Amino acid sequence: MDQGKQITLPLLMSVGTAVIGSLQFGYNTGVINAPQEVIENFINQTWYQRYNEPIPKTSLTAVWSIAVSVFSVGGIFGSFSVGLFVNRLGRRNSMLMANILAFISAVLMGFSKMAKSWEMLIVGRFVVGLYCGLSTGFVPMYVGEISPTALRGALGTLHQLGIVIGILIAQIFGLEVIMGNENLWPLLLAFLFIPAVIQCVLLPLCPESPRFLLINKNEENKAKCVLKKLRGTTDVSADMQEMKEESRQMMREKKVTILELFRSPLYRQPLLIAVMLQLSQQLSGINAVFYYSTSIFAKAGVEQPVYATIGAGVVNTAFTVVSLFVVERAGRRSLHLLGLLGMAGSAILMTIAMALLEQLKWMSYISIVAIFAFVAFFEIGPGPIPWFIVAELFSQGPRPSAIAVAGFSNWTANFIVGMGFQYGASACGPYVFVIFTVLLVIFFIFTYFKVPETKGRTFDDIAAGFRQTAAMAEKHTPEELNSLGADSQL
Ligand code: GLC
Repeated sequence: MDQGKQITLPLLMSVGTAVIGSLQFGYNTGVINAPQEVIENFINQTWYQRYNEPIPKTSLTAVWSIAVSVFSVGGIFGSFSVGLFVNRLGRRNSMLMANILAFISAVLMGFSKMAKSWEMLIVGRFVVGLYCGLSTGFVPMYVGEISPTALRGALGTLHQLGIVIGILIAQIFGLEVIMGNENLWPLLLAFLFIPAVIQCVLLPLCPESPRFLLINKNEENKAKCVLKKLRGTTDVSADMQEMKEESRQMMREKKVTILELFRSPLYRQPLLIAVMLQLSQQLSGINAVFYYSTSIFAKAGVEQPVYATIGAGVVNTAFTVVSLFVVERAGRRSLHLLGLLGMAGSAILMTIAMALLEQLKWMSYISIVAIFAFVAFFEIGPGPIPWFIVAELFSQGPRPSAIAVAGFSNWTANFIVGMGFQYGASACGPYVFVIFTVLLVIFFIFTYFKVPETKGRTFDDIAAGFRQTAAMAEKHTPEELNSLGADSQL
């Protein structure tokens, strides 16, 4: 096998351990959907015990919506704080430390029933949101930095695979016969404790990112040692060479704060692309499906909506695997374009099916097909690619800040869709997905004109491409611009 494509056991184990964080994100995204009714009953009972009257309908809706969406609020804060940890503690130790939040959250949610406190549930959801926000920064960064160039896309897609498997596990565990019932729902929510323990045991056995060791810590021997293990070969000169080149650039760039990221013309283009790709992922409407699929299916006349939801989870997982195998061949740009276009087509089909449901009963089957296709096209490109491409678009200096800004945009858009979809659905009826169709077309046009292909290119080469574009736009040579970029940090 080509040496640059070698998947070694230490590499696989490190990536596998890191994506437990992604699994947690997926699990907590999906877990709150199925047991809604039983948890609402619990809220009602505690209310009754305290105030001797049943909870008013509006208060119940408010408590429930807060419990659902406070997760993304935690995510917004968590993702924005990524930069505070990764350069101080290192990538691996940051992931390790974040598990404290997972444990706290599991305890809060797991004991909320016993303590008769729905407030504990809300705080627990916020804390696990913080953890997941951090994970959506830490995991793609670590995986991107330890992967060989030729496998960065495929291994980067494992982050998304972890997420979708997490969602699927949550959908299945959430069935009434498993844990989505009156007695076991606290266990369902506290289940995140177990992956957290596994990650804490395995992470100390995984190496720190060699890029962090060399570029941030200047520990060349350690970096070499780790690389040899990860690559399964004693000759790591090509990787070391590439990292040193990045390091030389970094001497000029130093660490880039979020403010500097916005100021410097060097980063304008990649930052715009990173943010737009995150928005294209969330504003595609995917989480309208993952938060509300059961009620969408019910409205579309499907008889067993819970099983259709699990079907969507299975399609979701299957197509992430497809993407995993084609992303290094087809490239990021073309897959993202194909995915957006396919989603737009599926959204139109879904709208037609919903609009004609009154006249034609069999349209409910078309709506299942349309939702499955919507999810499948999502996982071809817009699902996995935005998560790992940000690490590719930026070099070591600006990477942590860029990942923080990208994560912040992603989680904010996630929050908006989560909160807004139900209002949109009641205002637009069967036409609600037209909104997403329009947005998808806009993101398609943007991607077509602005997003470069990053497949098979080193981090340094990608950064050099952007320096060139920025230089042309600003009418400076790339060298002049580089020193301008450096000056703006002084
Ligand atoms: C992506 C999104 C996440 C969504 C998931 C669905 O990871 O970031 O919000 O729930 O895909 O598979």
